Amino acid sequence: MGFDHEDFALNAEQRQRLGYQLIDRINAYFSSLTHLPVQPPLQHRDANPHAATLPDFGQDAAHVLDDLCTQMIEQGFHTPSANYFGLMNPAPTYMAVLAEALVAALNPQLATIARSQLASRIEAETLGWIAQRIGWRHPEHCGGSFTSGGNEANFSALALALTHRFPGWIEEGLVSLNAQPVFYASAEAHHSIEKSLGLLGVGRKSLRRIAANARAEMDTNALAAQIRDDKAAGLLPLCVIATAGTTSSGAIDPLPEIANLCAHYGLWLHVDAAYAGALALTDTHRHRLAGIERADSITIDPHKWLAMPFAAGVMLTRHPALLEPTFGIDTAYLPKSSHGPLPDNFRISAQWSRRMNSLKLWLTLRVHGRLAYEQMIGQQLALASSLEEKILATGSFVLAVPCALTILNLRAKVAEDLHLDEPTTAHLHREIARRITDEGLYWFSTTRVRGQSLLRLMIISYSTQQEHIDALVRRLDRAAQESAEALGLFKTQP
Ligand SMILES: Cc1ncc(COP(=O)(O)O)c(C=O)c1O
Repeated sequence: MGFDHEDFALNAEQRQRLGYQLIDRINAYFSSLTHLPVQPPLQHRDANPHAATLPDFGQDAAHVLDDLCTQMIEQGFHTPSANYFGLMNPAPTYMAVLAEALVAALNPQLATIARSQLASRIEAETLGWIAQRIGWRHPEHCGGSFTSGGNEANFSALALALTHRFPGWIEEGLVSLNAQPVFYASAEAHHSIEKSLGLLGVGRKSLRRIAANARAEMDTNALAAQIRDDKAAGLLPLCVIATAGTTSSGAIDPLPEIANLCAHYGLWLHVDAAYAGALALTDTHRHRLAGIERADSITIDPHKWLAMPFAAGVMLTRHPALLEPTFGIDTAYLPKSSHGPLPDNFRISAQWSRRMNSLKLWLTLRVHGRLAYEQMIGQQLALASSLEEKILATGSFVLAVPCALTILNLRAKVAEDLHLDEPTTAHLHREIARRITDEGLYWFSTTRVRGQSLLRLMIISYSTQQEHIDALVRRLDRAAQESAEALGLFKTQP
């Protein structure tokens, strides 16, 4: 039996029917977001791994698609839900969903300009829009690329920092450095920094974790002291990674002071603004990022606070001339350089095959405009303030770290009242989270900041409204009482 192209492409009638079938399910899913539980209750979760054997022969497409949608929706874990208060995973805009379908259908390969043309131009235009909002207005003075996320963006930026100081390291390797470069980030910075330094070959130990203050921001006095100590020890301070929007608390490191220190000591400044970089799209809250325009490189993840589906990260740099020496390469099977106004993407980034991760943001901005983000971010900041006010009013929780953006760090008040030790407090927090998340409606996490266990609640889905906050506060208040009782804590009260 031969292969017919319609085996994979299907015919026009089938494509339309299956497309409508899928769109109907997605449509219903979007309509359900305001009341959708994040996941089924614990007792109804399907613990069995999906164990279908590799099929030699296909089955009816409508049936398989329907079954898949039902399973993924009924058994899924739904970060787009209004009841998701978890990590930095947003509800995607509907225009982004449509853009993703178009990208999958057209499948542009953005490695080279000649073979992608408009797609690469849209990508460059979208980067230019973000760069402008950072304050980098001249496209010839900045460059970068879309990435698979913050991890790749941080990795790429740290590679640039090395090229800046050691132009030959890409060819000669780290043995050619004759120095031990040192990197600095706060104790609250994301683990992708360590991962990147390990993979770049300078070693995870080349990262100095600088203490964070009570606001979970990098302590710049400690940073300055550490740089001085390292210089005195004959090491080579090379780069500071400031965070704008820490993973646990949303804290923004003091960017102007860190930029001053970098200027003074001649260090590369990378700002990991994977989360809070979204503020650059607002006029009202842009001031919270003041100083970011002095960075040498920046990470921003549209798949965090800009409501994009995975994957969409961005790395920007003020030193576009460093991109080619870091990432450029020639081999016989790679087309020669474009010689156009835009460089080929494969020469300025870590990827070769390049998916068009920019279209979803471009289309969302074209259809809704920047001001829609301004309003969404303003609303989410207001909801976070309301959550803070209402949860503190219950008397069951205290704030562990001041709320900088849309992340709340809470501790159970009973832990303070009874002077519980950290392991018992952590146990209590896990119990509160377990009780609530086992029910399935809500999801949020626990974490540690400055050695303290805490509950972490984040407003990230644009479908979250005041009514969800009010209901969550009531559930948290009850869970705090139930958990303390279940752990027998009240018995120890004097
Ligand atoms: C501050 C920060 N930087 C970087 C990352 C890594 O981003 P990604 O998951 O997109 O690779 C994260 C992820 O949460 C983050 O919070």
